[in-house]
Amino acid sequence: MFRIFVGNKVYMTRKIPEPGLSMLSKCQVTLNKKSSAPSRTEIMKNIADKDALLCMLSDRIDAEVMDVATDLKVISSYSTGFEHIDVKEATARGIYVTYTADILAEATADLTFALILASARNIINADRYVRENRWKVGWSPDLMLGYNVHNATLGIIGLGRIGAAVARRARGFNMKILYHNRDRNLQMERELGATYSELDELLAQSDFVSIHASLNNKSSGLIDKTKLRLMKKTAFLINTARGQVVNEADLVRALKNNQIAGAALDVFEKEPLTRASPLLKMKNVVLLPHIGSATYQTRSKMSEVAARNLLDVLDGKDPDPAFLVNPQVKSVRPLGG
Ligand code: GLV
Repeated sequence: MFRIFVGNKVYMTRKIPEPGLSMLSKCQVTLNKKSSAPSRTEIMKNIADKDALLCMLSDRIDAEVMDVATDLKVISSYSTGFEHIDVKEATARGIYVTYTADILAEATADLTFALILASARNIINADRYVRENRWKVGWSPDLMLGYNVHNATLGIIGLGRIGAAVARRARGFNMKILYHNRDRNLQMERELGATYSELDELLAQSDFVSIHASLNNKSSGLIDKTKLRLMKKTAFLINTARGQVVNEADLVRALKNNQIAGAALDVFEKEPLTRASPLLKMKNVVLLPHIGSATYQTRSKMSEVAARNLLDVLDGKDPDPAFLVNPQVKSVRPLGG
């Protein structure tokens, strides 16, 4: 069993907000103080003698990294996604992997709705229009026409906590809600008034298609040119999940050809988006820098949970099962319970 003591060594790859930072003050924390992610070399160098790692979704933690971290007992990710961590390798080595699970669901659903409204009602273009002094005639009968959100059909791909939180908001707009998921969820269907749909049907019927699937072998590249072709010409694609779920080159082509009305993206295949991305020049897209969970309240809660998960393991306690990615690790390296 491990017992926490002042000398527990922690590597934190980015500064997290309070209260997590103070919670870790009882450990010996090595903090990457830069505002950018550490390089792989930096990670390898800093992790070597550490008991715990507090990392972000931008840090790839694979077997090679774990090879140098022979004392590592816990990887606590300050994120809901954990595809950046080789969980199988960690489990085999008795390393606990934790994450912040669904804490960000409501904040991400808020942002998703902001994107639905922004894209349907030209919010970004209209704001620019005013600021750039292009608004020369007062009220105009055909200025910045957009699409109704109320009464429209919303297609949700992935009905987990975030998808469900989006559906609840959509009910207030009297939207028809379709969803596609690995498994049907009858309880959610009753609670949310959502209708299960095959993916192709959902794409063909929806006015707004919103992606909330986690990234895995099945979802990677799921929305490609054949799927985009099924969407209505007047429909919008919203993505606040992972960029890799959409084939970005295919999306660019669909947008250029006006095959769909627009897209609103908080996530991209490569982040940050490169200056060469054709998306930057397009008027029918809204682009955000991966800020789904970026509210003071949510990030603060995430920091508390990420710190607590890490401390629990160092203190020899099983982390809250809601935040433990690899429960199988308990039989490889049992803690006190
Ligand atoms: C954000 O995308 C996260 O995984 O926390």
